[in-house]
Amino acid sequence: MIQKGLKGIVAAETEISHIDGAEGKLIYRGYEIGELTSAYSFEEIAYLLWYSELPEQKELAALKKELIKNRTLPVHMKNILEHLPKEMDLMSVIRTAISSEGNESYGWKPTISQAIRLTSLVPTIIAYRKRQLEGKSIVEPSKELSHVENYLYMLNGETPSKAQTLALETYIILTLEHGMNASTFSARVTASTESDMVSAVTSAIGTMKGPLHGGAPSGVIDLLDEVREAGSAESVIREKLEKGEKLMGFGHRVYKTHDPRAVALKAKLSELVGEDEWLDLALEVETTAVDLLKEYKPGRSLYTNVEFYAAAIMKSIQLDPSLFTPTFTASRMVGWTAHILEQADDNTIYRPQSVYTGKLYDKPSMI
Ligand code: ACO
Repeated sequence: MIQKGLKGIVAAETEISHIDGAEGKLIYRGYEIGELTSAYSFEEIAYLLWYSELPEQKELAALKKELIKNRTLPVHMKNILEHLPKEMDLMSVIRTAISSEGNESYGWKPTISQAIRLTSLVPTIIAYRKRQLEGKSIVEPSKELSHVENYLYMLNGETPSKAQTLALETYIILTLEHGMNASTFSARVTASTESDMVSAVTSAIGTMKGPLHGGAPSGVIDLLDEVREAGSAESVIREKLEKGEKLMGFGHRVYKTHDPRAVALKAKLSELVGEDEWLDLALEVETTAVDLLKEYKPGRSLYTNVEFYAAAIMKSIQLDPSLFTPTFTASRMVGWTAHILEQADDNTIYRPQSVYTGKLYDKPSMI
């Protein structure tokens, strides 16, 4: 029997995260995600994912130092960014720049130092490109700020407020890792050939780019914009469902109840922004869509996924929509690299089979 899209197929054992789709729970190495977002920083949770335990003060300080040391783009990468066509989309830019990082130091087996470096580079690539396209001077990475603060600092040229940092850091922590999703699977498949870590994350970035995976937040913004313009959530959503279109930011392969990341983001958004036009609009769209999805797709259990409230949170901290999927990429780099390390520790090459449904072999007739 064929399982299209490998639905329900278990392809690996992992100790990195556990998703309970029926209960709507997400666990990183034994800790429930809600507990982590309220108590720990990006750096601490990245450490947890890479090293399997939360850091002591000394270990945390060492990781922070490593992340800061690796923030600066190498000259060849800056040159590449300067020469890429202006119309190239940001995800393709990140994929190209990161793939240029490969050199002989990235051989088999992958290491945590490589994971730290790649994670450090991505925010700088994004900010460099964004400011370059806007004709603004490049802001070199700070040697003091945290990973998330520095990202916003490089984008905007000023140190972000506590609320902005907290909103983005919550989103980033919630999206660092998510089991065997499409991009993580890509990364593991590439790593399983004993290819290097740069090649594996380059595969993952290409997979992340698609609208059914990391590209969804921009679709959510389009939906929110459409509803705002039309002045009615019901008419816009009903029309889409009548046409058989999917609503971006709803549904999930694994969660058949609320996505815990969407729940946590929604709570954080309400706490941080209080009264907010985008939050009100998002709440209205969510309520209307969930009701209409029950009518048009009965029995499918479709609720908001992480991308829905991610779009709202990024809109409220005024992050340009072109940065949504790239920011998701910057975050997921931690999960990808943790999986690549785990794959390398107990490697078997991925090699599924296919069923041939083409023409059967005919002997050519004699001339
Ligand atoms: N809007 C309308 N209908 C939907 C939606 C949606 N967002 N999602 C699923 N459905 C319907 C499907 O049309 C299908 O209906 P059918 O049985 O009548 O054919 C049924 O629900 C089952 O959907 P599948 O597509 O089979 O579910 P699957 O698990 O394969 O897909 C996916 C999950 C890709 C996320 C899907 O829900 C979707 O496309 N959502 C919109 C895009 C999106 O928000 N992506 C972000 C996901 S989160 C992330 O990647 C981090």
